[in-house]
Amino acid sequence: MRKPLVAGNWKMNLLIADGVRLVNELKPLVAGIAGVDIVVCPTFTALHAVGKALQGSNVELGGQNCYLKESGAFTGEISPQMLKDAGCSWTIIGHSERRQYFGENDALLNEKLKFALASGLKVMFCIGETLEERQGGKMNDVLARQVTQGLAGLSEADFDSVSVAYEPVWAIGTGVTATPEQAQEAHAFVRGLLKTQFGAAVADKVRIQYGGSVKADNAAELMAKPDVDGALVGGAALKADGFAAIVKGAL
Ligand code: PGA
Repeated sequence: MRKPLVAGNWKMNLLIADGVRLVNELKPLVAGIAGVDIVVCPTFTALHAVGKALQGSNVELGGQNCYLKESGAFTGEISPQMLKDAGCSWTIIGHSERRQYFGENDALLNEKLKFALASGLKVMFCIGETLEERQGGKMNDVLARQVTQGLAGLSEADFDSVSVAYEPVWAIGTGVTATPEQAQEAHAFVRGLLKTQFGAAVADKVRIQYGGSVKADNAAELMAKPDVDGALVGGAALKADGFAAIVKGAL
C-alpha cells in the first residue's frame, strides 16, 4: 500500500519566528506518527531556521519552488542544491499559483522537475484544472497534458521520489473542496494516465495527493478514497492543531 503524504504549503506567509513557533507546536502533536510522511514547506527565508527546529523530528522540510540550475547568474532564483543546503528533502514544483501568476508552463516545469530529481530532492508535482476548464468539459484534456508533458522523460525509479498533487484550481483557497467522489474520479483518471504513459508498476506506487481547501473536518473522508494518498494543504497548514488533525486523518 502507498504511505500517505501530508504536506503543508505555507505559501507567502509567516515570518521566521512564526514558522519556528508553528513547527515547535506541531512536533509534539504528530510525534510518533510513523504511518504518514509529513512535510512543511515554508518560505525560502524561513527554511533554515524551521529546518533546525525540525531536526530529530518526523517532519520533513520542503521548498515551494526551485530553479533548474545549480548556481549562476539567475537573479532571484533558488537552486535545488540551495534547498538541500537549507535542510530540505522535498520541493513543490508546478503549483497552480506558479503556473497562473508566474507564467510557468509544462515544458519549463518538466525541466525543473527533472533537475530537482537529479539533484536528489523529492518532488510534489502539482496539476489541476481551472473552473472554466472543468465547466467547459476540458478537465481530462488539461490533466492529460499536464501529466504527459510535465512528467515526460521520467524513469520508473524516478517515481520513488515523485508525488503528484491533484489540486483543482477552483478549490484552492476558496473554501470549496472537491467532494471525495470528485477527487477520487480525478485521481483515478490521473493514475490511469500514469499507467498508460509509464506502466502498471509506476501507476501502483505513485502517491497522488489531493489539494484545495483541505481542512481538519474534510481531510479524513477525502483520504479514505482508494486513489487519494494524502493531502497538500495551504491555509489549514498555518495552524499546528488543524494541520496535525489533517495528518491524523490520513491514518
Ligand atoms: P488551500 O491551498 O488548502 O489553502 O486551498 C492548497 C494549495 O494551494 O496547495
